[in-house]
Amino acid sequence: MDKLHLRRELLAARDSLTPEQLRSNAARIRETLLDQPWVQMAGLVACYWSVGSEPDTHGLVFALWKHGTTVMLPVLREDDDLDWAVYDGPDTLAPGRFGLMEPVDTRRGVDAIRTAALVITPALAVDRRTGVRLGRGGGSFDRALARVGPNVPVVAPLHDGELRDDVPAEPHDRPVGFAITPSGLIKLS
Ligand SMILES: Nc1ncnc2c1ncn2[C@@H]1O[C@H](COP(=O)(O)OP(=O)(O)O)[C@@H](O)[C@H]1O
Ligand SMILES: [Mg+2]
Repeated sequence: MDKLHLRRELLAARDSLTPEQLRSNAARIRETLLDQPWVQMAGLVACYWSVGSEPDTHGLVFALWKHGTTVMLPVLREDDDLDWAVYDGPDTLAPGRFGLMEPVDTRRGVDAIRTAALVITPALAVDRRTGVRLGRGGGSFDRALARVGPNVPVVAPLHDGELRDDVPAEPHDRPVGFAITPSGLIKLS
């Protein structure tokens, strides 16, 4: 299946999840991540602020911030590349491009992601054989992940059924090292 059709299928499946399933998935993903020592020890985490039926990251971002972790969130640039700014509590977000909530803090530049000890990236699906991720089609996280060093864990939260063996890969597509689903953490290739 090509990327366009696969995205459509995955988005339709996401939109059929009930509010209760979305809440339960988010809680299980958050608890599993917060149980990992390498998550607890990361001083600077690059995450994303979820929208709609994406695996919810709001509670995770809040918990990391409460724990004292510095959390950066993306600021979508005009060229679809990602700038970064620090989350400093629930009142520090404002709608940006496409209405996406972004931190109002100083922008740290596209290279700020190089300094993250952990990266949590959105994905519609991840290939269980290769770790290749499918995004929404903007390629923004492919650009951002290209700047992340090989020893930094990159984790994609997914709903169950989104770890697949048919994700199309192009040369610019960046793989992730882990998928986190409501059923657990999966290390990839
Ligand atoms: N490193 C990059 N530099 C510049 N443009 C890129 C880069 N990576 C991806 N893109 C652009 O993003 C577009 C969408 O990428 P794609 O992988 O289809 O989307 P997604 O990863 O969001 O599913 C690509 O066609 C390409 O033009
Ligand atoms: Mg891609």
